[in-house]
Amino acid sequence: MPSVTFNKNKPHLASLSLEISTEENLMFKLLEKGLPVASSCKGDGVCGKCRITVLEGLENISSETTIEITLKTKNKLKDNERISCQLKVKGAIKIDTNYW
Ligand code: FES
Repeated sequence: MPSVTFNKNKPHLASLSLEISTEENLMFKLLEKGLPVASSCKGDGVCGKCRITVLEGLENISSETTIEITLKTKNKLKDNERISCQLKVKGAIKIDTNYW
């Protein structure tokens, strides 16, 4: 099963990890596990606030949808910044945000 780990340089995240099925939505899984995810559209793919930075495993995340490409362009996001409400995970990834 795919796994999610977090920035090891942040002590409160260092020992945290979770497993996620390939059918689950990353943002909702993070919320289910008690990690805050910024959002004002509740996962409708409108606000772009749920962005995460992928530290490792970018190749293990679903391809960018039209919605995500639009949001990334509008918000001038880097290649390794992804819109978590639009993502499914296919393998091991390591992620972070600027507010965790
Ligand atoms: S929660 Fe608004 S775009 Fe993801």
